[in-house]
Amino acid sequence: MKKLVIATLGGALLAGSLNVYADDVEDAIEYRQGVFQAIKWYFGPMAGMAKGDIEYDAAEFTRRAEMLNQLSYMPEEGFIAGSDKGDTDALPAIWEDMDQFSAGFDKLQENTAALAEASKSGDMATIMPAFAEVGKTCKGCHDNFRD
Ligand code: HEC
Repeated sequence: MKKLVIATLGGALLAGSLNVYADDVEDAIEYRQGVFQAIKWYFGPMAGMAKGDIEYDAAEFTRRAEMLNQLSYMPEEGFIAGSDKGDTDALPAIWEDMDQFSAGFDKLQENTAALAEASKSGDMATIMPAFAEVGKTCKGCHDNFRD
């Protein structure tokens, strides 16, 4: 009887810890996708202004560029071990070459900082090259690391 209780308890504990693990992975995937959605939310209107679809507003563009720079520091920690499996478009290549993947975020941080700086000029001709670099950084990483 005692053994059975212990076995049951052990099983429950084990199931509990496995559940926690699954939740961690699920939470991490949701977290990073959520941050990328926030990145898109900030980036979208900037692209609209760059293309001339939305009227250029210098202060609003700068605010968005600064927020984008803040957000660029956030997704990386969501790529925890084991989170290559699940409801995700992240490719296994990330965990095979974490250094290169991580360098992509360094680049995003640098390029969004440069964009925030350029945006203070209030001059689209000055902003455009910095904006294009950020767009290239998104695409470069997606090409290599996103399904
Ligand atoms: C260093 C790599 C890297 C960089 C840089 C990067 N992304 Fe991503 N992005 C990813 C990966 C990997 C995923 C897949 C995440 C997942 O499904 O778990 C993703 C997913 C997304 C998604 C989909 C999120 C969802 O709801 O599933 C959007 C939108 C996105 N990125 C936008 C951007 C934009 C805009 C930029 C540039 C400003 C950018 N990303 C820069 C790697 C990157």
